[in-house]
Amino acid sequence: MAGTISISNTRASSEEIMQEILPQVKALLGDERDEIACMANIASVLQEVFNFHWIGFYRVLGDGLVLGPFQGPVACTRINYGKGVCGTSWAQNATLVVDDVDTFPGHIACSALSKSELVVPIRDANGTVKAVLDIDSERLAAFDEGLQKGMEQICAMLAKQIYP
Ligand code: SME
Repeated sequence: MAGTISISNTRASSEEIMQEILPQVKALLGDERDEIACMANIASVLQEVFNFHWIGFYRVLGDGLVLGPFQGPVACTRINYGKGVCGTSWAQNATLVVDDVDTFPGHIACSALSKSELVVPIRDANGTVKAVLDIDSERLAAFDEGLQKGMEQICAMLAKQIYP
């Protein structure tokens, strides 16, 4: 049964926090293979720990990204391939860290409060992007390497589970 994530030292670096969270997220997912259920709980626990402006998933459905489970204010429901930070991450099959969203050509501003953004692709066993994890912060340059690597590890763990 799902529980709350516990962080022993709230002043730890983001890298240390992510390494502490990882096994707990794995335990939380258990053997659940439903993508919506897994994404919903991951969005919830990461929000509980980090209190981002927005965190959630977009899934590749047909020729676009479609809004999935998230925490935060309402967001765009569909994003085209190659558009915005999310669609670019999908097209490039690469993690994107945007320290200042105003400098990213074509950034889609779902919220005027969003200042920086991290998008991580979630790939199946063939390396095809099936979804992305999108995180928005109200602070500029909010995503350091520890957070990026940790989120990539969570996405890889999630992908193994739901897109084996
Ligand atoms: N800013 C994103 C759109 C999604 S929202 O931030 C939730 C983008 O440029 O793709």
